[in-house]
Amino acid sequence: MPELQPHILMCPPEFYGIHYEINPWMDQRQPADHAVAVRQWNALRAELEACGAAISLLPPVEGLPDMVFTANAALIYRDRAVISRFRHAERRGEQPYAEQWLAQHGFQVQQSPADIFFEGAGDALFCGETLFAGYRIRSDVRGHQEISASLNTQVIAVELVDEYYYHLDTCLCPLDAQSAIYFPDAFDHYGLQVLQERVDQLISVCPEEAQRFACNAVVLGDIVITNTGCPQLHAELKRRGYQPRATPLDEFVKAGGSAKCLTLRLDGEDAASWRKDVP
Ligand code: ARG
Repeated sequence: MPELQPHILMCPPEFYGIHYEINPWMDQRQPADHAVAVRQWNALRAELEACGAAISLLPPVEGLPDMVFTANAALIYRDRAVISRFRHAERRGEQPYAEQWLAQHGFQVQQSPADIFFEGAGDALFCGETLFAGYRIRSDVRGHQEISASLNTQVIAVELVDEYYYHLDTCLCPLDAQSAIYFPDAFDHYGLQVLQERVDQLISVCPEEAQRFACNAVVLGDIVITNTGCPQLHAELKRRGYQPRATPLDEFVKAGGSAKCLTLRLDGEDAASWRKDVP
């Protein structure tokens, strides 16, 4: 029995769709099937609940189709929430809603540094004591330094080099303080070196499964939830004692997102060492 129930923020896909193109996955000529998207989102939610998570809902807003991707709402650190500042104008309308919800639910909200783009937990993931932060395509490197200084955490910024893996959570997923799933081709030489030095157990995914968003996993204890179509990763995870689970999320892949992007862990990710001493 876990001491703390995982708490996840999700946003129903009522207004979800491919209404603009801000990453190479998005193509307005390939719209999302609304009914299927709703079914897939409900199935992910049901799976998370079945794994013991409590789900809170951020009310969706018409005209903000990417609001379903709550990972980008903020970076959570204990009772603090650093609100995102999106690079693309199309998503900036989401910021006040995330801020309001988090403030009303007990978080001390903090703005991202002025004139700096920062896309929340999509680009900033704790692995043990360290905050790994992705930059260049969405978030700015300067923001990571300032944000980690204000939170008093150690940060390691890694450059993302492939437009398809534009957020760190599309190519890296910490499993615990010593282990992570990653897609090597999404990083430059320096980034790879740092990951290899800092994370004892790195599980790499192949290009075909990276494209299925294998790295965009939700971790709940030893359960790892991904999109379907990641059999090699799942076999490797099983071999290492994890319980991988697949749930179809193709309608969200059309927008460049999958399981992890659709969630924001409010109580701290399992891999974050600070979570262990949350009272
Ligand atoms: N269409 C969204 C965007 O490009 C997808 C966001 C996916 N979120 C994530 N955390 N990777 O911003």
